[in-house]
Amino acid sequence: MARCFVTRRLPGPALGRLAEVHEVEVWEQRLPPTPSELVRHAADADGLLTLLTDRIDAALIDACPQLKTISNYAVGFDNIDLEAATRRGITVGNTPDVLTDATADLTFVLLLAAARKLPEATRAVTDGDWVPWEPARHLGTEVRGATLGIVGLGRIGKAVAQRADGFDMRVVSARSSDQIDGLLRESDFVSLHVPLTPVTHHLIDADALAKMRPTAILINTARGPIVDQVALKAALEQGTIAGAALDVTDPEPLPPDDPLLSAPNLIVTPHIGSATRATRERMADIAVDNLLAGLEGRPLPHQAN
Ligand code: DGY
Repeated sequence: MARCFVTRRLPGPALGRLAEVHEVEVWEQRLPPTPSELVRHAADADGLLTLLTDRIDAALIDACPQLKTISNYAVGFDNIDLEAATRRGITVGNTPDVLTDATADLTFVLLLAAARKLPEATRAVTDGDWVPWEPARHLGTEVRGATLGIVGLGRIGKAVAQRADGFDMRVVSARSSDQIDGLLRESDFVSLHVPLTPVTHHLIDADALAKMRPTAILINTARGPIVDQVALKAALEQGTIAGAALDVTDPEPLPPDDPLLSAPNLIVTPHIGSATRATRERMADIAVDNLLAGLEGRPLPHQAN
């Protein structure tokens, strides 16, 4: 029987399967463990089930001499020092595929909400500012026939492209940063679906924003640090672009007094791309399957290293 530390209670029955065969400690608090709490609880663990909010760096890995496997409850694993884990022979798992549709759906929720100025329109209702039908108010952007630039045509990028097809949109894509210039210039909507790496950090900076159309809308459901938020705020204020909708920010959570939140034509949601009950339960199943395999010394069903 191995000892597992799970850094948050997960939805669905999957953790029960883990507890049937291993000794499991679950961090039951609403907020994630602090770095020192994480070290204290992980130090004697054979397996860790972590969230994207847990920084698993080389120091943490060094502090866990028995650690065999880390199962991340996310498709992204930029919170884990993969090289340090691999050097120690620790397997790292992630949860791809099962969250593709939920994340692509949320991308479209944001795209449509930004295009049709949904926050502004609902605010008018609750603020008592709804006057009889007005011909020239709340005028948004037509989605049908618009060009959607998808940066990163992986699983989620392709699922977004499928949805765009249903809206008769023209899709252009870029796999790498050197293909992105043309995409930025011709797209009415730019949607980000690349992983966070040193190359994609601030991929969308002031230069990139300046290449976008003044009528364009930026959507980010990938990772916050891919966008330079200081540059984004300036671009929204100066009308360099028409709007932005972000499900991810840097940091998360974004403090309510963060300067970005005062920018016009901005929608921010609290990293809910994969947040459907079915998806989060399937992610828990995969995370547990990865952990069970790693503890038995088998290849993980979804192994990142
Ligand atoms: C992921 O899985 O990487 C998402 O950001 C959270 O579901």
